[in-house]
Amino acid sequence: AVVVVDFGAQYGQLIARRVREARVCSTLVPCTASAEEILAAKPLGIILSGGPASVHAPGAPRVDPSLWDAPVPILGICYGAQLMAEALGGEVARTGSGEYGRTALTRRAGVGTLPVLGGPEGPAGDVWMSHADAVVAAPPGFVVAAETAGTPVAAMADPERARYGVQFHPEVAHTEGGQELLERFLFEVCGASPTWTHLSIVEQATQAVRAQVGEGRVLCALSGGVDSAVAAALVHKAVGEQLTCVFVDTGLMRAGEGEQVEATFRRQFHVDLVHVKAADRFLGALAGVVDPEAKRKIVGETFVRVFEEVARDLGDVRYLVQGTLYPDVIESGSAHAASIKSHHNVGGLPEDMAFELVEPLRWLFKDEVRAVGEELGLPEELVWRQPFPGPGLAVRIVGEVTPERVAVLRAADAVVLEEVRRAGLERQLWQSFAVLPAVRTVGVMGDERTYAYPIVIRAVTSEDAMTADWARLPYELVDRIARRLVNEVPGVNRVALDVTSKPPGTIEWE
Ligand code: XMP
Repeated sequence: AVVVVDFGAQYGQLIARRVREARVCSTLVPCTASAEEILAAKPLGIILSGGPASVHAPGAPRVDPSLWDAPVPILGICYGAQLMAEALGGEVARTGSGEYGRTALTRRAGVGTLPVLGGPEGPAGDVWMSHADAVVAAPPGFVVAAETAGTPVAAMADPERARYGVQFHPEVAHTEGGQELLERFLFEVCGASPTWTHLSIVEQATQAVRAQVGEGRVLCALSGGVDSAVAAALVHKAVGEQLTCVFVDTGLMRAGEGEQVEATFRRQFHVDLVHVKAADRFLGALAGVVDPEAKRKIVGETFVRVFEEVARDLGDVRYLVQGTLYPDVIESGSAHAASIKSHHNVGGLPEDMAFELVEPLRWLFKDEVRAVGEELGLPEELVWRQPFPGPGLAVRIVGEVTPERVAVLRAADAVVLEEVRRAGLERQLWQSFAVLPAVRTVGVMGDERTYAYPIVIRAVTSEDAMTADWARLPYELVDRIARRLVNEVPGVNRVALDVTSKPPGTIEWE
């Protein structure tokens, strides 16, 4: 494997992920690990991540100094490159003009055959920078391979000792040739071979789960979404009958979600499944409530109560599976992000219950989770489901949530998704769904006046839900959806299209 040493980088896991994309096994270790620990697994190579600190700051994270002498190739990225420069006798300084974002890289003359960084002299594409400090003098024995307008040593190499450093971030998608650079390091310098697969992730994760839970009993809340489903399937593969899954039907799910969970987990995997039909309880608690935050709270609290009751009935359960992904880990760590909505993750942990968490997806990104899901034999329809908010349809029904309005929206949502799927756009769109506003409008159908609900079509593209753009759906598709909604969903007489990006809008309406 290749070890990624993490200095608290924004992109640490992304590096590990890029290595996996090159089909090389990678593990991430904190920078506090000793050289002995890092070298214990006999890594083929070491990658030092970026990090927010300045190498000159008191208490700035360092590596164990003996690592620099290890007979293993090392690639330092950003902060990692600066540490390397400083440790090996170069110089790092604050240049006064940091570089942030896209920056043009220029390759120096005479480095054509240099491993990893070599290539023709001159413009070497745009790379992604994010730094205030920079290496201003490479250590003795190093060749400076590339520079930018603000950074004299943007890339440096000592091929004799197999030490490489880059100020830019090859792991981010905006860096041209970034993946290629990483692969040259992995294959040409470290001698790794591209044999790692998602099957290996499955094997590693199941082993880790077995080691963690031993003979203990494990509980998993299924939400109908991808993450909890993949986590459950993995844990089931690891510990079989020790796992019990709980699916709480809130009455606010998408069409067919409960049946699919039944079909997959009870009938295909033979998982011990508790299916709690609690629609009346949720809708009862929501009766008369129109405030969006109040709705979220009610759904969240009701969910926790129901879940607690089931857990109590089951008795001696010690472990709780959570489908936490790596992006969730980063996000919950960013304390300064303002709370726009109180995101309640249904499947969330009852706070006062003493469970130990099992999080087998904690190191993975969404698309890796999907690949693992496919590897485990989960149905494609489930694996490729678009994200769905914890409070469910309740936050897509503006105004009061009544059984009648839920039925209208669920039917409308099924039409939107079915047409999007048929048009082959489901995977390209981040989300596509129907919204039910709290107004009625006048229409005419079959010579009769109608006074009924409009449906709003909401479809967005996004990388991570932090920002989103409204999707330019083909007009023919919009037309097909609109006709079907009015013709097939009783109570709907008008259709509108939401053309708001995020910001200023949010993806959901509440
Ligand atoms: P917004 O509406 O804030 O949504 O742009 C961003 C993403 O988060 C989903 N979402 C939620 N997910 N619990 C969740 O688990 C919630 O309360 C919640 N609210 C919004 C939303 O579907 C979108 O993908």
